[in-house]
Amino acid sequence: MNSQVTQENQQVALNWRMSVAPMMDWTDRHCRYLHRLLTRHTLLYTEMVTTGALLHGDVPRHLRFNTEEHPLALQLGGSEPADLARSAQLGEQWGYDEINLNCGCPSERVQRGAFGACLMNEASLVAEGVKAMRDAVRIPVTVKHRIGIDKNESYDFVRDFIGTVADAGCEVFIVHARNAWLKGLSPKENREVPPLRYEVVAQLKREFPQLTIAINGGFKDSASVAEQLEVVDGVMVGREAYHNPWWLAHWDAQFYGAAPNELTREAVEEQMVDYMEREAREHGTHWYSIARHMLGLRHGLPGARRWRQVWSDHRLKGLPAREVMAIARGLRTEDMGLKVG
Ligand SMILES: Cc1cc2nc3c(=O)[nH]c(=O)nc-3n(C[C@H](O)[C@H](O)[C@H](O)COP(=O)(O)O)c2cc1C
Repeated sequence: MNSQVTQENQQVALNWRMSVAPMMDWTDRHCRYLHRLLTRHTLLYTEMVTTGALLHGDVPRHLRFNTEEHPLALQLGGSEPADLARSAQLGEQWGYDEINLNCGCPSERVQRGAFGACLMNEASLVAEGVKAMRDAVRIPVTVKHRIGIDKNESYDFVRDFIGTVADAGCEVFIVHARNAWLKGLSPKENREVPPLRYEVVAQLKREFPQLTIAINGGFKDSASVAEQLEVVDGVMVGREAYHNPWWLAHWDAQFYGAAPNELTREAVEEQMVDYMEREAREHGTHWYSIARHMLGLRHGLPGARRWRQVWSDHRLKGLPAREVMAIARGLRTEDMGLKVG
């Protein structure tokens, strides 16, 4: 697989105009497979993988992906330059198109490991890590971070962070446009409570016009994305992409100038069932762990709730995916004796 992937890599012109954010437990390879059916050009990110998990754990479990997923970035969590370099090398060998370092995660577990958002307080260590990774791989090394830590809203802090890390060779920054409050908030609250300050990211782009700056945080519709694309180089979307994946079906036309596609939700659902069958055959994956990522596919449509309930009904786990699809489409409710919806 790898040599083929490497050849493909060379054809992939990486750009950060649109991307789907790294999200633990959410953006696994099944989720990314769905997203790739919906958008050809958008850059996809893995969940964060720690250097510890890669260097001491089950590498294929963490790094395996479907070739269809390109362009694809591996996000690493870690702070030790040698470990980051070795992990980045593994990522490159496995065929990833980019290595991204997480400097934005506020979870306490991550803080104890001294990485994630608390690394923003250690810009020179991040710079060392970036340099070590850049020396170890040919693919781009990028950083995802916040605009500040705790209640410190000083612009200079984030400017100096970027300046130091850029001096080590990082050319792409993905900026989650809110502070991380390291004490007192859960990771979930840390994605909601600290205020979004998009103007800080605009100011960073003005200050560092030569760098690629993508903005992240709170994007839910194409109009606000388009507005930001006038100001910065890219927009990364997290939760809304997950909960409302059909939005992605418009991105190639809206943000990459591609011709409108002919996709339908039904066709995408069918391709996902093909994928579920392939995964079951090749890897013993149960369809249930794939279907969970597509529950938002009918978001906003009449009947969405019932469709979603069927695909998430654990009582149906014993059935083949194709039959579950028939039930979800209302073709087989009675004969299953199910009361759904
Ligand atoms: C369930 C979940 C898991 C996340 N895991 C990660 C992660 O592994 N690495 C990371 O950099 N950010 C992670 N994030 C943060 C997102 O990448 C993103 O920065 C954040 O959700 C803000 O973007 P949004 O408002 O578009 O969702 C996670 C977010 C969610 C909702």
